[in-house]
Amino acid sequence: MGVSGSIAAYKSAVLTRLLVKAGAEVKIVMTDAAKDFVTPLSLSTLSKNPVLAGLTENDSWANHVMLGRWADIMLIAPLSCNTLSKMASGACDNLLMAVYLSATCPVVVAPAMDEDMWLHQTTKKNLETIRANGNYIIPVENGELASGLTGEGRMAEPESIIKWVEDFFFREKELAGKKILVTAGPTYEQIDPVRFIGNHSSGKMGVAIAEEMNKRGGEVTLVLGPSNIAVNGGITLIKVKSAADMLEVCENVFSSTDIAIMSAAVADYTPVQVADKKIKKAGSELAITLTQTKDILKTLGENKTENQVLVGFALETNDEEENALKKLRSKNADMIVLNSLQDAGAGFGLDTNKITIFDKSGQRFPFEVKSKKEVATDIVNTIIQQFYAKN
Ligand code: CTP
Repeated sequence: MGVSGSIAAYKSAVLTRLLVKAGAEVKIVMTDAAKDFVTPLSLSTLSKNPVLAGLTENDSWANHVMLGRWADIMLIAPLSCNTLSKMASGACDNLLMAVYLSATCPVVVAPAMDEDMWLHQTTKKNLETIRANGNYIIPVENGELASGLTGEGRMAEPESIIKWVEDFFFREKELAGKKILVTAGPTYEQIDPVRFIGNHSSGKMGVAIAEEMNKRGGEVTLVLGPSNIAVNGGITLIKVKSAADMLEVCENVFSSTDIAIMSAAVADYTPVQVADKKIKKAGSELAITLTQTKDILKTLGENKTENQVLVGFALETNDEEENALKKLRSKNADMIVLNSLQDAGAGFGLDTNKITIFDKSGQRFPFEVKSKKEVATDIVNTIIQQFYAKN
């Protein structure tokens, strides 16, 4: 376990105790800054192992290579903004970074910082870099921060981190060997070099599904429209802008896919012509002619083979069930997930969602309002039960 300098370092004591209690063997490496928040003595007592901090200690060299090879998982909690930036650039000026750079095991981080730092473009870029390098990121939580402000940036609670680690090692991998395609987020349709037509989709639901599929052993490709959401390592992330880009990637990947889940909010129409220069203000009205985009779900439905599972979404404001079932049939999907914007707790940008799933045999699976992560688990469980249950 790596502990870096953040006020959340006090939680690393609880985390250590819970890990040891769960039967883990824990060795701790701290940064110097972390010592201002929690003492090495507390952590060595709780972990039952000496805590290391320097590259050399008492005239002996701390063997960072062996530490990185010894562990089954390296957990950096809390991950400070500074250590994140070093991980992204590969700086190696302390033992924690030396262990990280030598680690041959999976690495998971639990960031902790103030909301403004968390939302900074550089932080986002650094997170994206470490994610692309294969590290797993446990999302920050929303709540009271050390600054006294309330917002995003709190380190996940030790109990959630323990659950993540347990899931990582012990959850049954029902989707092992399965190739999964997930679309998520909005699409942007270009009008001119500075303007586009978009929508309010955040991508949260689709990213949660991709991560859940990956946890269950699936080999996931996530095709994500413009979105700032951090995505965990272990997922092949393909970022796209327009409906046409998304279609192209999906068509390329689909033939080798076992399960495709189309949760993106794809534009139904796109400008016929993209102006090559910024459109100047002129006249009191402006009309832009749009043409229909090709429906990705429908296209995949037309090319689907018997062994492929295709799941669509339906976002409805009225005649919900009827419209959802119509989409299920007309697009040749095996399952459709209905979100009704009329339900409190469902919709764009929220952390919660309320869904009903329908399958093509006419079964109906209603669910309560839940966090998008829990909804993702319900969707993945339903797919596994309906299509991959052993017996
Ligand atoms: N979809 C798609 N490609 C499009 C439009 C939609 O793949 N060009 C997919 C969505 O990802 C979703 C499903 O189709 O899985 C239904 O999307 P939705 O916007 O609810 O329905 P539409 O078919 O676009 O119909 P309408 O907007 O008229 O409700």
